[in-house]
Amino acid sequence: RDLPSIKEVYKDYFLIGNVVSTKDLEGVRLELIQMHHNLVTAENAMKPAYAYNEEGEFDFTAEDELVQMVEDAGLLLHGHVLVWHQQSNELLHSDENGNPLSREEALANLRKHVKTVVEHFGDRVISWDVVNEAMSDNPPNPEDWRASLRNSGWLQAIGPDFIEEAFRAAREVIDENGWDIKLYYNDYNDDNQNKAEAIYQMVKEINERYAAENDGRLLIDGIGMQGHYNLNTNPANVRRSLEKFISLGVEVGVTELDIMAGENHELTEKQAMQQAYLYAQLFQLYKEYADHISRITFWGLDDGASWRAANSPTLFDSDLQAKPAYYAVIDPE
Ligand code: XIL
Repeated sequence: RDLPSIKEVYKDYFLIGNVVSTKDLEGVRLELIQMHHNLVTAENAMKPAYAYNEEGEFDFTAEDELVQMVEDAGLLLHGHVLVWHQQSNELLHSDENGNPLSREEALANLRKHVKTVVEHFGDRVISWDVVNEAMSDNPPNPEDWRASLRNSGWLQAIGPDFIEEAFRAAREVIDENGWDIKLYYNDYNDDNQNKAEAIYQMVKEINERYAAENDGRLLIDGIGMQGHYNLNTNPANVRRSLEKFISLGVEVGVTELDIMAGENHELTEKQAMQQAYLYAQLFQLYKEYADHISRITFWGLDDGASWRAANSPTLFDSDLQAKPAYYAVIDPE
């Protein structure tokens, strides 16, 4: 408990975040969240599937409870997520047999979903992941971003412009209300150069079109690099992607950082050191580009609670004790 606070160490650089469910917002877990972080992302509660009840009507009961707890704890909140192919409501774009709805129907559903959710939470969030993981993993021809998209239900029903439409719907609500909420495109495998190029081409085209119509304003404010890495991740590739995204004039958020190492919930001493070294290399890089990076959010407070618990990817072990990775983040040089 008397360890340096991560958010204090980085207060002149960027916000520090972590992922939470309601169980992280009480007791000793909340103490650690508050001590080290400025902001949180809901691990599951604010995903599209959970905005609806069994009758398919909007129902924000569970979300509102979590948002209230976050506010009571004095933490900022990042909205995750409006449009995604997982943990979503399939009936927004497909019929009961799984066949795509007409473009008109799906587009109307997309707009209604985005607008209702953005309106509901308002400026209780500082930013939204508007579209998550729309790009395929290693597109062979990344110059053609449309051909690089994942074959999702949204793509099948609407076509490649579902992404731009989602951002425009969110932007309309924000502008109508005069809110300051940053809109992000978020994805993983962000260190893969083909994928980074496809994302770059997509954001460039969408933002240029919008800017031409709107006095140079951005439609997509930020790119989220999820940062789900492992011991084979090459920080030089992370750097290339980061520089590419920054060259678009958008902010970058590291949105879901963790580094898999070891297996079966065990980390050898060597793996713990390798993991710490990669965290240190990444934070050196993030500091270098701090002017363009809004936040670094970890995806898991401790190894026990991580979605990839077997690979011990976080800064704290399952007894909430600081690992070498924590000390590397505190002092990466
Ligand atoms: C994960 C959660 O951590 C798990 O609890 C859930 O079962 C599946 O989703 N990319 C994302 C996150 O954008 O929403 C995912 O979160 C991890 C990968």
